[in-house]
Amino acid sequence: SPKPYPILCSRRPDYTPHHISNPNYVRIFDTTLRDGEQSPGATMTTKEKLDIARQLAKLGVDIIEAGFPASSEADLEAVKLIAREVGNVAGEDGHVPVICGLARCNKNDIDKAWEAVKDAKFPRIHTFIATSEIHMQYKLKMTKEQVVEKARSMVAYARSLGCNDVEFSPEDAGRSEREFLYEILGEVIKAGATTLNIPDTVGYNWPREFGQLIADIKANTPGIENVVISTHCQNDLGLSTANTLEGAYNGARQLEVTINGIGERAGNASLEEVVMTIKCKGELLGGLYTGINTRHIVMASKMVEEYSGLQVQPHKAIVGANAFAHESGIHQDGMLKNRNTYEIMSPEDIGLFRSNESGLTLGKLSGRHALKSKLFELGYDIDGRELNDLFWRFKSVAEMKKVITDDDLIALVSDEVFQP
Ligand code: KIV
Repeated sequence: SPKPYPILCSRRPDYTPHHISNPNYVRIFDTTLRDGEQSPGATMTTKEKLDIARQLAKLGVDIIEAGFPASSEADLEAVKLIAREVGNVAGEDGHVPVICGLARCNKNDIDKAWEAVKDAKFPRIHTFIATSEIHMQYKLKMTKEQVVEKARSMVAYARSLGCNDVEFSPEDAGRSEREFLYEILGEVIKAGATTLNIPDTVGYNWPREFGQLIADIKANTPGIENVVISTHCQNDLGLSTANTLEGAYNGARQLEVTINGIGERAGNASLEEVVMTIKCKGELLGGLYTGINTRHIVMASKMVEEYSGLQVQPHKAIVGANAFAHESGIHQDGMLKNRNTYEIMSPEDIGLFRSNESGLTLGKLSGRHALKSKLFELGYDIDGRELNDLFWRFKSVAEMKKVITDDDLIALVSDEVFQP
């Protein structure tokens, strides 16, 4: 029978023992390069995937799912390269990330995944098979017994290749029968699985339901105390971040996420939302924490946006262009008095260094106070009647233009100053 595997697979030298003994440490498993790349039109070149993997390592991601090696020769080569180049190099905090390859439950996929990741210092094979009635009946055309046998034998096969870190996912767990989940998960643990990932594949669960699923699996699966429970939440109902956090609250200690939340259909839980919520609300979540250096988030987001071609919507939480912009007069006035009035985290925390100190975006809703401060930032100290006149001229321009740029303001002031 397979050797027991240490529960913590992210072996950060300075804190591995701490994390082993600290049940509150949450591993971040990034699947931007696998599930993220499955977004329509998001295919990336090998060089782009390597760049992103390096940025993920810098971010402090514990596990990088680098691809699905059996899906194409190109992906196999990309994962191999990442395993060699990123999976053997210590990051800023001294940790070497686990490099993972996805495989369906068949020998060919598992062989390819192993070939791709085996040169990493910490290689992992992630294998999956569907467990919901609808998937088993229509997609797999297999009985429950056949599915259990396939899962058990393929996890054992992956271990037999010499891979001592094997993750198993019952695909569509969010719609699978509970008792069946306990059974199949118990069997794969016996076969040597080290992480059990619970996917809400079609994003059908809501937070309370998904949290309960994790709690039930934790309470009823034989042998579960020896493995890590993981979440993988899709965003079809816009609930992926909330579901992921409920999963963590109920015992999951690995969370699968992607940068900017990219992924199949409506995407996956986003790394930046999950990590920043844990950072802001860790205490409320029972003291949970991650090893992510959040100051590299913005850079990772920009890189993924550029390489995947998937633009981040302006109002996207954490990394959207407007996430730290303040336009209405009341908000701008509050911000000028104290930034905490309308900002729950500091932009510097995610690596956003604003070109303008205040973060104010001037538009038709801005008030005099904001205009005066913005002008001051630009080097103009204008007050009294002059400011009042300028304010009304500014308002009429703002009615026509969505955003007033620094250049617009300078032009307005010049007009004002040099008017006879
Ligand atoms: O969404 C899903 O179920 C998956 C699994 C392979 C984890 O991507």
